[in-house]
Amino acid sequence: MHALEIEQLTVSFDKTPVLWDINFSLPTGRLCAVVGPNGAGKSTLLQAILGIVKPLSGTIRLLGEEARKVQARVAYVPQRSSVDWNFPISVLDVVLMGRYRKLGLFKWPKASDRDAARSILKKVGMLEYESRQISQLSGGQKQRLFIARALLQQADLFLLDEPFAGVDMATEKEILELLGKLKQEGKTLLVVHHDLSTVQNYFDWALLLNTALVASGPMEEVFHQANIFRAFGKRHALLEEVARLSGDVL
Ligand SMILES: Nc1ncnc2c1ncn2[C@@H]1O[C@H](COP(=O)(O)OP(=O)(O)OP(=O)(O)O)[C@@H](O)[C@H]1O
Ligand SMILES: [Mg+2]
Repeated sequence: MHALEIEQLTVSFDKTPVLWDINFSLPTGRLCAVVGPNGAGKSTLLQAILGIVKPLSGTIRLLGEEARKVQARVAYVPQRSSVDWNFPISVLDVVLMGRYRKLGLFKWPKASDRDAARSILKKVGMLEYESRQISQLSGGQKQRLFIARALLQQADLFLLDEPFAGVDMATEKEILELLGKLKQEGKTLLVVHHDLSTVQNYFDWALLLNTALVASGPMEEVFHQANIFRAFGKRHALLEEVARLSGDVL
């Protein structure tokens, strides 16, 4: 069973292709890293899967179904820089948004929804900030907030856009543990990740992207120097230098 099946996906903005003829399948229960340089189309891929961005062509199947039918079973942690942090909303209300798709429009969260939201805030160490405006959080707290929202949603497919960006080592470990637990529960996770040095340790599947798909598959099969060089194209020379200095441990 595949959690995600993408065929011939092309997305363009202003006639410029950002994703070009992407084909891959991701088996259920994998913790998959999406790796590629800035502007490679990583965030756009996540947004296309969510139905936020409309593709020029191609098909996306999620959890064995047509994507639009199962969007409620997909949780999303956005890239921190893409969120309007000045929007006047409290921590608890953001987490409760994880329930809205289940509740449906015009239904008010019940006491039991609030209790569930609070217990998840506790789990990610954020309960003491429940009433705080989201603008008044630190970088790591902001990341935990959106992870809490995703957890409350009880989804089957999780899309996380750079969840480790700008968090300290302790928080990174905690987030990684949460992701590992979700994987153990049989959930599928697609995670945009920038730190090439931790890709192999953190994930079991990889997707290398640079507008076109460079490779996708089990970590040990696809995450090797030739593919990394292909994905990072323009930075080829720089990477080669890094590989030389580090004795080719890439
Ligand atoms: N709404 C938009 N309108 C026009 N162009 C866009 C839009 N969103 C993204 N792009 C462009 O599409 C390309 C891919 O962007 P995307 O955000 O998917 O890259 P990314 O791989 O997530 O990069 P980063 O590592 O910097 O987050 C970039 O060239 C970007 O400028
Ligand atoms: Mg991005």
